[in-house]
Order: sequence, then C-alpha cells, then structure tokens
Amino acid sequence: MTQLSPSILAADFARLGDECRQVLNAGADMLHFDVMDGCFVPNISFGVPVLQSLHKALPEAFFDVHLMIRRPLDYVEAFVKAGAGCITFHLESESDPGETIDAIHAAGCKAGLSIKPGTPASAVLPYLDRLELVLVMSVEPGFGGQKFMPSALEKLKELRAACDARGLSPWLEVDGGVDAVTGPECVAAGANLLVAGSAVFGKADMAAAVRGLKSL
Ligand code: DX5
Ligand code: ZN
Repeated sequence: MTQLSPSILAADFARLGDECRQVLNAGADMLHFDVMDGCFVPNISFGVPVLQSLHKALPEAFFDVHLMIRRPLDYVEAFVKAGAGCITFHLESESDPGETIDAIHAAGCKAGLSIKPGTPASAVLPYLDRLELVLVMSVEPGFGGQKFMPSALEKLKELRAACDARGLSPWLEVDGGVDAVTGPECVAAGANLLVAGSAVFGKADMAAAVRGLKSL
C-alpha cells in the first residue's frame, strides 16, 4: 500500500504541533521533516530543536527526516537523539555515503539516500542493499510548491526494477510537486512512499487531502 509523508515545510509554523496532529489523525503514515542549511540548498528551514519539540509533543509519530545539508554525517547523532525515525541524506553532499549510512545504522536509525534531479538512478545502486529508503527528488531541492519533473518517473521505474531483481524492498519515496495528479503516476512507476507539502498543508481541508492521497 502507498504510504504518505506530509512535508511540514508547507505547514503554518505558528500552529505546527496542531497541524501535524491533524494530518496524522487523518491517516498520514509519518511526517516529512525537511532540513535545509542555506549551503547545500539556497534556503534555510529548521533543525534539531524543532524536531525535539515535535517528537516530545507527538511521541508516537514517525519522523522521516530529509537532510538537505552539506555535511550530513556531522549531524546524524543529533537528529537521532532528537527523534528521527529515518534519516535521508543526499548522495551529492560532502559526506561519504557508505560512512554516513553506517553512522545512521550505528545510531539505531533507518537510513535513506536521496538523489537530485540531475543525478542518475544508477548512482544509488552500489548502496541499495544497505538502505531502508531511497528518495528520488522530483524538483530541485530547496523549496516547496515547485512543479513536478516527470524525469523522476523513469528513475523510480529503474530503482523499482533494481530492487525487484535483488529481492530488496526499501521504501521508494518521491518528493516534490506530488499531488492528486502526479501522485498516481509515481505509484505506477513504483513509488510506495509519497511526500506532499503544498498538496496537504496548503489545502483548506487537510484531512480530505490526506485521505485523497492515501487512496492512490
Ligand atoms: C523540497 C523539499 C520537499 C518539499 C515538497 O526541497 O524536500 O519535501 O517540501 O513540497 P511540495 O510537495 O509542495 O512540492
Ligand atoms: Zn523533502
């Protein structure tokens, strides 16, 4: 079944706890936590203290942490301590991918690897059997509300085929411009975890948006 990870980047930060509770009560499977450092991407979002507070307020929630930062390895421990359920970092970052995956696992957390639109799916293959999650970006990371790039669909297909061929079943997640129109295309291409920011938190009826995307 397709799972949904609403991106809190699109939430009203003055009402963050309440909005998270609303989407979880409506059936969201986890919360997508976008960390941006102003270096790896040209935007700054939020970090460890915000995760700590949310984790305390919502102890049952699973946090799908997406690190868009230059040196993810340096922050693994802090995010795990703050309540991360899975930590996804970028292959294009400065940290060694193998070392970072090991550090995430050693800290007792699930590990995810993400690729930007310009990086081929094949770059993930050497790490595939060590990952609980693979994240295909369908926009340039940095901002919510961008248009879905259909080139992500080919990558999802390629990664789904590689997982099937090796008997692996990590989450295959897609992030950026996912909504009721592009979501079904991603699922058809092999994604089983959809990130949606504006298509959930940007809607007047967030619960209905969650139910709609969950039904794909
Ligand atoms: C972009 C972030 C996304 C973003 C998605 O860099 O990684 O998670 O919040 O937002 P939408 O769904 O609005 O494209
Ligand atoms: Zn994200």
